[in-house]
Amino acid sequence: MPDKALIRTLVEAWGPSGYEYQVRALIQKEVQNLADEIRTDAGGNLICRMGSGGKKIMIAAHMDEIGFIIHHIDPQGFARFSMIGGLFSSTLNGGRVKLENGMIGVIGLDGEPNPYRTGTATLGDFFLDFTGAGASERVQVGDVGAMWRSMDVQGSRVIAKSLDDRIGCVVAIEAMRRLKGVALSNTLYFVFTTQEEVGIRGARVSAFGIAPDMAIALDVTPTDDIPKARNASVKIGKGAAIKAMDAGHIVPPAVRDLMIKRAESAGIPYQIDVMTIGTTDAAAIQMTGSGIPSGAISIPSRYVHTTSEMVDLDDVEACVKLLIEVVEKPLEAV
Ligand code: CO
Ligand code: ZN
Repeated sequence: MPDKALIRTLVEAWGPSGYEYQVRALIQKEVQNLADEIRTDAGGNLICRMGSGGKKIMIAAHMDEIGFIIHHIDPQGFARFSMIGGLFSSTLNGGRVKLENGMIGVIGLDGEPNPYRTGTATLGDFFLDFTGAGASERVQVGDVGAMWRSMDVQGSRVIAKSLDDRIGCVVAIEAMRRLKGVALSNTLYFVFTTQEEVGIRGARVSAFGIAPDMAIALDVTPTDDIPKARNASVKIGKGAAIKAMDAGHIVPPAVRDLMIKRAESAGIPYQIDVMTIGTTDAAAIQMTGSGIPSGAISIPSRYVHTTSEMVDLDDVEACVKLLIEVVEKPLEAV
């Protein structure tokens, strides 16, 4: 089963888009003895090669998380912010933000008339409260923060911030651990990417540098299995989600069908992922160079982009197994 201690280490780490260095250092320590070659490119992506020969397969999981950048601070210590990635106003009030130096701020909402009560709050109505900070720790314009909350486990469910996409990073690391010492048919590039949440930027440049024959993104996908959900392409606890399409990416049928075939022959529970909002690193990779066939293995997740994202460890395990099935054997033409 997936390593819960590793999940905790990564989800509780600090790393909004463009500031992934702390997460990268933690991952580098984990994979140091697993990869044949490790480098960090100019885009900040951590690129880990395993094996040689066969086809080049890139596996991408993003290190960054959504966050905040301060653009105004008043003398009392109330700060206004712009968002890094997709923040939703309905999820913010009363939350906590952690700055790069570890300082904690509370997310508050303008007073009278209180837009929270009328349901009209927009991001501009929120502020960060650093009024307890002393003069020496004064917050500056340009300081960057991430949401803060510690991880909880309930049965087979993990509840945490930043499972988007540190759980994808965990799937990649787990696969690397299990592939260590295995005679590989392909050259695998496990890439821990930067700046996904602000426009799939790290994946684009790292894919250009690697020029893989095929790529697989590992990322969360929202589930539609909560009360009053209208439709249900993906359910939590029902297995690895093989992407067919999202808002930025149509998976080539050959890639999707290869994944389905490998899941079925190995008896791995799977479901088909059709995501109507958002996309993954695969969307950038497929448009790199003269085009790279790309697919995605999605980890079903509830409450994406909140501090209480939820995944099921059985699904995570299914994703690890499916990834290994797809990348360790010779590729059929895709
Ligand atoms: Co996201
Ligand atoms: Zn993501």
